Amino acid sequence: MGRIPEDIINKIVEYNDIVDIISEYVQLKKVGRNFVGVCPFHNDKGPSLSVSQDKQLFHCFGCGAAGNTIGFVMKIRNCDFKEALFYLAERAGIEINFDEGKDKDKDLKERLYKINLDAARYFYNNIRTSKTALNYLYSRGIDNKIINRFGLGFSLNEWDALINYLKKIGYSIEEMSLAGLLVKSEKGIYDRFRNRIMFPIFDVKGRVIGFGGRVLDDSKPKYLNTSETLVFEKGKNLYGLNYVVKNKNLYSIIVVEGYMDCIKLHQFGLNNVVASLGTALTIEHAKLLKRYTNNIYICYDSDAAGQAATLKGIEILESIDLNVKVITVPSGKDPDEFVKKNGIEEFKKLIENALFITDYRILKVKEGKNIKNQLDKVKYINDVINIISKLKDEVLIQHYAEQLSEETGISLNVIIDKLNKNRANITIKNNNSNIRNNIKGNIYNLVPANKKAEAFVLSSLLNNPSFYEKVFSNLKPEEFLTDVYKELAYEMSIKIPKGETIDKNYFLNKYQEQDKMEDIARVFSFSTDSQDNLEKLLDDAIKTVKRFKLEDKINSLKSEIKKCELENDIHKSIQLMQNLIELQKELDQI
Ligand code: UTP
Ligand code: MN
Repeated sequence: MGRIPEDIINKIVEYNDIVDIISEYVQLKKVGRNFVGVCPFHNDKGPSLSVSQDKQLFHCFGCGAAGNTIGFVMKIRNCDFKEALFYLAERAGIEINFDEGKDKDKDLKERLYKINLDAARYFYNNIRTSKTALNYLYSRGIDNKIINRFGLGFSLNEWDALINYLKKIGYSIEEMSLAGLLVKSEKGIYDRFRNRIMFPIFDVKGRVIGFGGRVLDDSKPKYLNTSETLVFEKGKNLYGLNYVVKNKNLYSIIVVEGYMDCIKLHQFGLNNVVASLGTALTIEHAKLLKRYTNNIYICYDSDAAGQAATLKGIEILESIDLNVKVITVPSGKDPDEFVKKNGIEEFKKLIENALFITDYRILKVKEGKNIKNQLDKVKYINDVINIISKLKDEVLIQHYAEQLSEETGISLNVIIDKLNKNRANITIKNNNSNIRNNIKGNIYNLVPANKKAEAFVLSSLLNNPSFYEKVFSNLKPEEFLTDVYKELAYEMSIKIPKGETIDKNYFLNKYQEQDKMEDIARVFSFSTDSQDNLEKLLDDAIKTVKRFKLEDKINSLKSEIKKCELENDIHKSIQLMQNLIELQKELDQI
């Protein structure tokens, strides 16, 4: 697909007012020239989100989220640049007619969807004539309604039943092979799925993309799945999602491991359940989920594998800011077995009692430890501190610190102290400022300090070109660590002396990656109008930028020295050492 022409991008931005778009998600209030509201991108209650109608930009003082209308849509709908544009274009009734570029696989894909659908119909028809298959499902407590809804089927206990059928209705062996429906071996070609209960797997649009087949007894492998094909990528699909998204009032999605768990919960009326089909959750899964809800429950088997997968899974879900809770099914059971034994109402109680991920992580590190034992206790405290020091919310940290203190009898001061040391190690890598021992000081700083300083320098300059001398006599564009800022600084260093202006839209549309767009928007959305001690702040920011650049240089020099020492290159190492001392001196003088 070709790049969308710039004038169309501009038109799309122009026709979608940022205040209208953001208002669909956040209640905005007019304050002075701007609008403010609660930021949807981090956990907050205060009005940290600021939206400028003049500039058509938004900016959050809490988490640093920033952008134009496109950036907002990308972030809130969790989609890429093009998807956001299409969404906004459609909303404004603008047609994007540029060269679509032919998807060379398009025809083949269509054919694979079709052959899978025909195979699914075939399997489905079989189940009505196969008593054993139907009885197996009944014995598992699956009813007719759910068999129909999920299109469950049966593959006959023959070597070529499906092949013959598909041949008859006009498919080639090659097509069957590309759809993953047959096996080729020295002995010949035969059906991949034989004598199995068939679960068709749908994509979110409801197209059949593959199958899972379960044996009727205890033989192995228990489930056989379609191998990866052009239309079936396990890591990108969630079983059941096509039904879940039909939900009008979808508030949350529950992720389980297995086919059986998924359909059983649907049968009992939980129509927000998807299955990850025994594979580890991927970032693609997480993004897919985020399109439909921010609230995810994860409910894996209670065995060791399931619990390990839970810990990995929550990390992935958390990485894109989903709200995650963990449903724990007691001892040795999966959701299907639990419901069979205890009923759906008991399962709903498990949902209500689902743990926040931090509580879950704490529970996990506690397992197998005896807090009364001194060594275990120390280990436990360190583990918990590791967990909670990564939290962003100050109140939450306080809460867990107190809980830990009560539980272990170690004074809160000692815990807070350890916590601070830990946070300093994690978040403040090369910052020698005085906030190191102040929890509050660095919790809300989601934007790294160097970026903040760089953005501040650039926006001050943008608002007051008269700072040109001050900035560029002290700083070279190369001293900016952030790539997009380096570029912007370079542009400014050339354009401002010529009296030319910086084209905001050019820069805003130049990058299509979320983080870069955000960095750029941060500069343009910042207003220095109401800053009274601007010069002083600018001086500080310039120093900070210089300091970070020097520290960056020092760090790479240090690793180079280490390398020389490992290679016994004493001569070079001494030489580098001298450079290091000079850089240190330079740093001390700032
Ligand atoms: P489980 O073994 O927990 O299966 O594996 P289950 O869904 O509870 O199956 P029942 O209740 O015994 O019928 C979870 C998921 O892992 C995948 C399947 O997607 C399964 O639903 N799996 C498992 C396989 O792909 N192959 C296997 O051999 C086993
Ligand atoms: Mn099971």
